[in-house]
Amino acid sequence: MPDAVWSFRRVTREDFPLVASWPAQPEVHRWWQHEWSAAAVERDFGASVDGAEPNEDWLALGDGSPVGLVQCSAVADYEENLADFSALGEVPPRAITLDYLLGETRGQGLGTDMLRAFVARCWAERPEAPAVLVTVVAANRPSWRALERVGFRIVGEGDCEPDNPDDDPLHYLLRLDRPGVA
Ligand SMILES: CC(C)(COP(=O)(O)OP(=O)(O)OC[C@H]1O[C@@H](n2cnc3c(N)ncnc32)[C@H](O)[C@@H]1OP(=O)(O)O)[C@@H](O)C(=O)NCCC(=O)NCCS
Repeated sequence: MPDAVWSFRRVTREDFPLVASWPAQPEVHRWWQHEWSAAAVERDFGASVDGAEPNEDWLALGDGSPVGLVQCSAVADYEENLADFSALGEVPPRAITLDYLLGETRGQGLGTDMLRAFVARCWAERPEAPAVLVTVVAANRPSWRALERVGFRIVGEGDCEPDNPDDDPLHYLLRLDRPGVA
């Protein structure tokens, strides 16, 4: 799907079976340790669908087909995030953060393209956000390299509890500033 046209729409309950099928894949579950039973997906995504969570869950569509998921919130919306991020580096007020996965076709540049398109959308839709910050476990090279290819830079590193207990705790803090501001 090179040169795909990217669009994003909020996850709805009709998407739950698709969303559940992604972390069920071992290559995704390796890094994204969500459970995928119907009850677990309702627990993890239902509040966002209902607008009862600050986090937003977005379905990423490449040429109209759903291929991935991007979660977006302000870093400060969640105390645990703010503490983890602040332990690794500066967190500008109103900075936002992302989490993401590709449901298929990993390792062929799609993740980089999806993130580039989502970040461009963030600058337009989140005018208050001066920067996007992401923490990534150092072992997840595809994830932090995809961010670097979008323009993020590693601005801090240190130990955080990994999602996957098998991983070394070393994490990177990656940052991309709003164009024309920093
Ligand atoms: C993270 C993710 C979105 C990246 O998207 P992707 O399409 O696989 O990555 P890209 O093809 O755009 O490649 C990005 C970089 O990772 C590298 N890469 C991709 N797959 C790799 C692999 N299996 N092993 C090592 N490096 C890999 C690419 O070579 C490229 O780096 P380079 O510029 O140094 O060559 C995707 O792999 C994914 O969904 N992973 C599972 C869920 C996950 O890890 N989410 C992130 C949690 S922080």
